[in-house]
Amino acid sequence: MRIDLLTLFPKMTEGFFSESILGRAVENKLLEIVVHDIRDWSQDKHRRVDDAPFGGGAGMVLSPKVLFDAIEAVRPPEGCPVIYLCPDGEPLTGALARSLSTLPHLVLLSGHYEGIDQRVRDTLVTREISIGDYVLTNGSLAAAVLTDCVVRHIPGVLGEENSLTADSFNNNLLSFPQYTRPAVFRGLPVPPVLLSGNHGAINQWRHEQQIAKTRLRRPDLFRKNQTNTHESANP
Ligand SMILES: C[S@@+](CC[C@H](N)C(=O)[O-])C[C@H]1O[C@@H](n2cnc3c(N)ncnc32)[C@H](O)[C@@H]1O
Repeated sequence: MRIDLLTLFPKMTEGFFSESILGRAVENKLLEIVVHDIRDWSQDKHRRVDDAPFGGGAGMVLSPKVLFDAIEAVRPPEGCPVIYLCPDGEPLTGALARSLSTLPHLVLLSGHYEGIDQRVRDTLVTREISIGDYVLTNGSLAAAVLTDCVVRHIPGVLGEENSLTADSFNNNLLSFPQYTRPAVFRGLPVPPVLLSGNHGAINQWRHEQQIAKTRLRRPDLFRKNQTNTHESANP
């Protein structure tokens, strides 16, 4: 997969894309990330990229010309989504990340200040995604979050040690508790079933933990899980 990220803060994501699992995906050529500095398309001698909003109000808005020039220079191929990260976009979910992970190319656009000129959204942006119901100062971290959760679904990116199926949100359940050695730490023992070697009992215990945690913390997800379980038992 290739990802082009257009941002005003290229350095913000440098470490993020070169470390850990994303860094390894880049090294193994499963992922190519090209970060572009939007200011490179400014024609202003002070590299300005924004202007005051028509109609008044606080803050500044990223200008259409610089964004049109930047996106057109990246030349997204046919079918490649141009994604604007914004708080008023569709919510990022595991299912959305999984579907984006099947595409060969994504263009991500990160905003700043009060956002970007609406005409860019209306004409060049093909998808708008929010990473949560809160407002960040700019979209670089949102683009990094989107990249991370999309890329981990690309086959070969996660090592065998990382399983997607045990993760939270699979089947609308939160994940079960994990323990590692030692079996007793500062007088705190791990649940005995995990030391039993009985895989049926371990799976059953983990499932019960998932159910209890999801019911308590995320009743919305729990209801979906119960509806799906009921529907698949009574098609
Ligand atoms: C201060 S925000 C602009 C907020 C905008 N005035 C609004 O209320 O919708 C600046 C930039 O941060 C990014 N951003 C902020 N919150 C975000 C979120 N929850 N998800 C994705 N991007 C976000 C967007 O790229 C946005 O253009």
